[in-house]
This record gives sequence, structure tokens and C-alpha cells, in this order.
Amino acid sequence: MTNTVDAKHNLHSGIFHPVLRQWQSPNVEITVNNLMYPIFILDNQDATEAIASMPGVFRYGINHLRKLLQPLVSKGLQSILLFGVSKHLKKDDIGSNADSIENPIIQAVPLIRQWFPDLLIACDVCLCPYTIHGHCGILYEDGSINNKASIERISEVALAYAKVGAQIVAPSDMMDGRIGAIKKKLIETGLVNKVAVLSYAVKFASGFYGPFRDASQSAPKFGDRKCYQLPPGSNGLAARAAARDVSEGADMLMVKPGLAYLDIVRHTKDAHPEYPMFVYQVSGEYAMLYHGAQNGAINLKNVLNEVLLSMRRAGADCIITYFAPLILDMLQPKS
Ligand code: PBG
Ligand code: ZN
Repeated sequence: MTNTVDAKHNLHSGIFHPVLRQWQSPNVEITVNNLMYPIFILDNQDATEAIASMPGVFRYGINHLRKLLQPLVSKGLQSILLFGVSKHLKKDDIGSNADSIENPIIQAVPLIRQWFPDLLIACDVCLCPYTIHGHCGILYEDGSINNKASIERISEVALAYAKVGAQIVAPSDMMDGRIGAIKKKLIETGLVNKVAVLSYAVKFASGFYGPFRDASQSAPKFGDRKCYQLPPGSNGLAARAAARDVSEGADMLMVKPGLAYLDIVRHTKDAHPEYPMFVYQVSGEYAMLYHGAQNGAINLKNVLNEVLLSMRRAGADCIITYFAPLILDMLQPKS
């Protein structure tokens, strides 16, 4: 006869059936509601370009967006995150083309709203794709950040995206005070109840962004982003950054990158359980999984599913991922 202690320590009895296994993982399933798909939009309407550093990911001209999105929306895609890519538009010191009428985001948002009225559109807000120096803000002559001018300009760009129909603006620049500056403009223009601010609140200075900078042609021409993005070892600044952005009125919080920062995701979610928590599985994370699978080291779908679960377990409500099209396929009911 088994004694009660032994019976209690028997774990297999709780996991021998798939339904039992699901009961062991409450609230960490992956659904379409947990996904946001980042898309690079080119300033050349008819072009599609492969991104060498991110095999399987493309930059699209506006004229390709409808046929890209149609099947994804049919499979349940609920939200997208748009990045503008400026290949032909002139770059300058203040990122004038971030919100000019020629900007691909300014042009694309109204069309996407019209084509897919139920799709929720987030726009990344940053200057780096449009500045000549490739930094995320406006610089003083010595190359350091002019924070006041930066947040003025960034909030102007956020407002421009909001005006053309973005339902979420997501500033990724990491300037001090940008959330407050954006909220102020949204309040002044009466848009505040129609536009959510998703703060890249806890964004680390990470090597995992390498492929993205190629994708969005936004690498800094000199120096790095360590004076405005957070040091990877810092718990303290991560906590302060999230609390600060909450106090400035952020509607949602993000931790970025994802996999190497899941402890921070958990801390941030625990500190601010009232706020939807986003995790960005960034370009380098995409590339690692892609190449790992391509070279036979891992099974892509299995490991991707595991990574997504780990993000949900850590507290993510929504995962921003370049794998969204594949995940949507994985989520389709088996016929
Ligand atoms: C730029 C920006 C970056 C990413 C999103 N917005 C790169 C950076 O900060 O250098 C990274 C996204 C990715 O790597 O997938 N503001
Ligand atoms: Zn930037």
C-alpha cells in the first residue's frame, strides 16, 4: 500500500493526459489575443525587400500590405506594430520625415484602418529611422542627447500618428519624460480617450537588436545607445523606469528584449499588476531561433511554443513577435 506522502509526491498522476497538463498551466496558454505582429513599412510603395539578417521577414511597400494582412486577419490576428523604414526619404538632425506626408506610416495607417476596421494598430514612435545620425533623439553638438528637444519632437510625431488613426502609440526612444509629453499632447488635442500609450518602459541596451537595425536602417552612425537605454544588469533602473512611466500616464508597459529578461517581466508585472504587460521578442531572438532550427539544433515550433509559454508564465499579457504568422498557423484548429 502506498502511504499518503508517497501518493502526494507522485507528479505523473497529474500530467498523463493533455487536458490534465493544461490544468497544470493555468493562464499561460497562447491565444491570438496574446500576439502583436511587427511590420516594417517601406517608403517605396511597390517594393518588397527580404531582410538578410532576419530570414523570412520582409519590408513591405504600402501596396503589398493588404494582401499580406488579409490571410493573417482571417486567422485571427488582432493587432500589429508598425515601423517606418526610410530608404529614400531624406534624413536630417530632427527626423523631419518621421511625420511628413511622405512618411510610410502616415500614409499606411488610414488605409489599414479602412481595409481592416477591427485590427488594432500600434505605431512605433522613434526618430532613429529618420535622423541622419541614427540616434533616437535630437543631439547637442557634442553628440549627447538634448532631452527637452527630443521629447518635444517625439511627442509631435506620436500626435501625428494618432491623428491619422493609430490607436496605440509606442515610443521606443527611451528619452526621459516622453510618456508625459505624449499624454499632454493627446489631452490638449482631445485624442486622449482614443489613443493608448504603450511605453517601451523597460528597454535595455541590447545586442539582440542587431538584425532590427539592419531591417529598419536605423543603426546609430556613431557611438551606441547606452546613455539612454538601460544597462542589462540593472534591476533598479528597470523598476524605476516602469514606475516613472506609470506615473506619467502609460496605458501599457513593455519589457524588451524578452527571453533574457524574464525576471524583469515578472518583477514589472508584480509591481504593476493593473497594467497590461507586453514583452518584445526582438529581432536577435527571432534570428537565434530561426538559425538554430535551420541548422538542426532545435525544432522551431516546439521551442517557439516553449519560449512563448515562458513569457506568459513570467507575466506577459501580449507578446510582440516576428513569428506571429507561424504562431497563427500553429493556433489553427487541426482539421
Ligand atoms: C529603435 C528600436 C529598436 C527596436 C525597436 N525600436 C532598436 C534599437 O533600439 O536600437 C528593436 C526591435 C528588434 O530588435 O526587433 N527605437
Ligand atoms: Zn530609436
